[in-house]
Amino acid sequence: MFVLVNLKTYPCDPVAVAEAVRDVDESTDARLAVAPQAADLARVAETGVETWAQHVDPIEHGSNTGHTLAESVADAGAVGTLINHSEKRLKLADIDGSVQAAERAGLETVVCANNPEQIGAAAALGPDAVAVEPPELIGTGTPVSQADPDIVEDAVEAADNVDSEVSVLCGAGISTGDDVVAAGDLGAEGVLLASGVAKADDPQAALEDLVEPL
Ligand code: G3P
Repeated sequence: MFVLVNLKTYPCDPVAVAEAVRDVDESTDARLAVAPQAADLARVAETGVETWAQHVDPIEHGSNTGHTLAESVADAGAVGTLINHSEKRLKLADIDGSVQAAERAGLETVVCANNPEQIGAAAALGPDAVAVEPPELIGTGTPVSQADPDIVEDAVEAADNVDSEVSVLCGAGISTGDDVVAAGDLGAEGVLLASGVAKADDPQAALEDLVEPL
């Protein structure tokens, strides 16, 4: 299973969480990675943890003030990027452009979507993976893999119908090992989570619990 920890703009110490993710990654068969804010990418990557960006824009080098260039993200040490998170929605054409920009820079891609219909559209753009996240469950602690298992199974089917090479992750409310196991049982190859680790009093203990059954 792939466990991708999105730090959003939570007031955690990104380097401390990154070190916890790195240390837990070394003690499990699961693949762990962390997605800090763009400004923190380089110092997070320096810890040795697998580092992801939260977003890249559909642009190239040039006149693009305030945008995030995929090549800069890669130069800072990221190996992948989220695209179209529920909290950073893009138009379809921009999702396509961001996937192409990420691929141009050698970044792995996870395109997020709200539901199985959008997952099918996202998979058609050829990312490495898609992630289904019902917005109403994000940050609630109520896991999608248990509260809405159909949406995960339907997302897996929708992606598979379009391109069987595209992996499916699920996210929203995931905070325990049981939630991750349930996600795997529904066909997801990984989970995308945030508050269960980034807002935990002890992120390392939260991560150890998450990967313990894997
Ligand atoms: O990117 C992951 C995220 O949207 C899920 O957040 O806090 O429900 O794990 P959370």
